[in-house]
Amino acid sequence: MQLILLGAPGAGKGTQAKKIMETYHIPQISTGDILRKEVREKTELGLKAKDIMERGELVPDDIILKMIEKRLQQPDCQNGFILDGFPRTIPQAEGLEQILDRMGKNQLIVIEISVSDEEIIRRLSNRRICSICGKDFNLILNPPPVDMICPVCGGKIIQRDDDKPETIKKRLEVYRKQTEPLIKFYQQKGKLFRIDGLRPIETIFNQIKEILESQNRS
Ligand code: AP5
Repeated sequence: MQLILLGAPGAGKGTQAKKIMETYHIPQISTGDILRKEVREKTELGLKAKDIMERGELVPDDIILKMIEKRLQQPDCQNGFILDGFPRTIPQAEGLEQILDRMGKNQLIVIEISVSDEEIIRRLSNRRICSICGKDFNLILNPPPVDMICPVCGGKIIQRDDDKPETIKKRLEVYRKQTEPLIKFYQQKGKLFRIDGLRPIETIFNQIKEILESQNRS
């Protein structure tokens, strides 16, 4: 299974990717998580990406494509993978087609999770994450402990720098301009499924499972 989860910031891509990973035993590849790790570890790439991410803009395509090609060559991707937050531009989508052709296997399915801007702002301004392991909390759905210490790893629970109101607005603008054209790109290839992301997490997950299982049968 080669799956892309497409959707605006806060649409629920990461939430659903984790559930798919647990059910189907294929890795979640989140370019955002990989970049945040590089930033935490202050690598050369992390130092380059930090300001771009804090501004809510996109890291250059060539950097992202190299990162993805390396990741897809790992043995755990042999039976499939879930791409979360990639591709985000037409050149990234075209680059991915070339990578998959080089790997000799192109069976992409794209699921777009669609959510209104009002809901995105509500979700992202309430999101908190562990600064060490990245575990997700939400002040409404899944509140963090009062002491703001992660129960999994003991890290400090914080708000992502790019979840501040001004940056959320910028990320939405970037999504509309640079990422939304991918909907048409994949529609024309007959690979796109669209689902309503305004419903409860389990309901969305059940619909994703139906799509994946119908694709497996065909
Ligand atoms: P990235 O980390 O990919 O952020 P994003 O796409 O903006 O996505 P988010 O993680 O914010 O949201 P999500 O859709 O995963 O939602 P989640 O499940 O967490 O990218 C960050 C930055 O890195 C980019 O801005 C860019 O600078 C850079 N970058 C990354 N990839 C790149 C690329 N390919 N090219 C260039 N640059 C790149 O859910 C959000 C909240 O809502 C959570 O609190 C969750 O609990 C809650 N929630 C989820 N589902 C529901 C539901 N159904 N109902 C109610 N609440 C829900």
